[in-house]
Amino acid sequence: MALDPLSSLLYLVSGVCFIMALRGLSGPETARTGVLYGMGGMAIAIATTFALKSVDGVFLPIVGIMVGGSVGAIIAKKVEMTALPQLMAAFHSLVGLAAVFISLAAFYNPLAYGIGARGTIALNSLIEMGLGAAIGAITFTGSVVAFGKLQGLISGKPMTFAGQHLLNAALGGALLLLLLALCATEWDIVFFAIIAVALVLGITLIVPIGGADMPVIVSMLNSYSGWAAAGIGFTLQNPLLIIVGALVGASGAILSYIMCKGMNRSFLSVLLGGFGGDAATAAAAVGGDKPVKVGSADDAAFILKNASSVIIIPGYGMAVAQAQHALREMADVLKHEGVQVRYAIHPVAGRMPGHMNVLLAEANVPYDEVLELEDINRDFAQTDVAFVIGANDITNPAAKTDPKSPIYGMPILDVEKAKTVLFVKRSLGTGYAGVDNPLFFNDNTMMLLGDAKKMAEDIIKALE
Ligand code: TAP
Repeated sequence: MALDPLSSLLYLVSGVCFIMALRGLSGPETARTGVLYGMGGMAIAIATTFALKSVDGVFLPIVGIMVGGSVGAIIAKKVEMTALPQLMAAFHSLVGLAAVFISLAAFYNPLAYGIGARGTIALNSLIEMGLGAAIGAITFTGSVVAFGKLQGLISGKPMTFAGQHLLNAALGGALLLLLLALCATEWDIVFFAIIAVALVLGITLIVPIGGADMPVIVSMLNSYSGWAAAGIGFTLQNPLLIIVGALVGASGAILSYIMCKGMNRSFLSVLLGGFGGDAATAAAAVGGDKPVKVGSADDAAFILKNASSVIIIPGYGMAVAQAQHALREMADVLKHEGVQVRYAIHPVAGRMPGHMNVLLAEANVPYDEVLELEDINRDFAQTDVAFVIGANDITNPAAKTDPKSPIYGMPILDVEKAKTVLFVKRSLGTGYAGVDNPLFFNDNTMMLLGDAKKMAEDIIKALE
């Protein structure tokens, strides 16, 4: 169904808004404007769609939007920042499921979509709806597994099994054959077989992937959900859905690539799974007989006050403890004492892309003090104190020195090059990848054992 010129123009405006939203979201200073562009684009998109001549009956969609929107708003208000990755995974699963249902609706009522009649559906529509259903089903179960892993309902360790790649290849091959069969026969059973095989493939693809690769998987599933939406856009002959699906698909794929680069892993090796599962050796084995230097908030305050430069390295523990405000206060006191304070952000610090940036922005840390890994890593050697707060994997030199380590090859922040390294965490335990950190036993390391927020507050008291 061809669109009237006004609707086409409004869809174009909406598409441009979404592009501006992505542009805005690429930096903390412009992120708020980006969100506003996104909201504006979505409002135009919904209003235009409701006004289309081919859309009859807007009551149910409006009820759906109100119910779904309210649930979404409540969840967004309540969700902890640390639980955002699993929330994203849960939402992607719904996009996948929607793709499956819309494909089914188009398959059973092709007349309503203008793509032919039952038994004589246009070939291109059969391909589109078959692909949309397959990608949607993979996204659905894959996202559910990712949710389970991130939420701790399923073990985060990779569950590899013999013949796993062969099984995935066989399922992929079966999907292709079924798609051909669908085009040739249009049989219901074939359509349901496509959905069933894709549902299984979503599980077998994601289950073997574990530990540190989850961020890439969440963004890859985000990308899949975009492509599924684009596929539906073709079925529904809705150009905006095609544009938006392609934007989500492409930006998710680019984000996955950037994260792979951040962890020095190839996209293929992430997809093949099995990373981050080797059980960690006991901490004692990493440190040998070396003693661990444990300090107090007073010790830390003394060291920090006498430093001329400090780099703060925030990690997941800072987010768990919600220590960002106390941390900024601590930095303010230090700056007042004439100490240069900067923040070093690792691309996969925390549990989602930009996690640390969001928290530091919330605490009003000036943007120009927050530097990315490649911009600050060289400065550690000329820095007095590296203040690591709730971070672990992103500082672990095993990534550089131990080819057997599951995080080998991941670029890390070279905190050990600073004169003194202060580690704020509750124990000598491991981080997300389950790998012990030999830095805890270094001569220039002092462990500040305790909750990140409490420790930052105690250091402020000691500084004052
Ligand atoms: P982790 O390596 O996970 O280390 C976080 C540390 O915080 C833990 O060792 C923990 O030690 C400590 N901690 C927890 N609660 C704390 C609290 N209340 N107070 C003080 N410390 C606390 O974090 P990281 O260095 O940020 O590295 C991120 C890891 O997560 C990487 O392996 C990355 O691949 C993975 N990952 C990243 C993402 C994204 S996109 N950023 C998504 C999923 C996974 P204690 O238990 O001893 O306190």
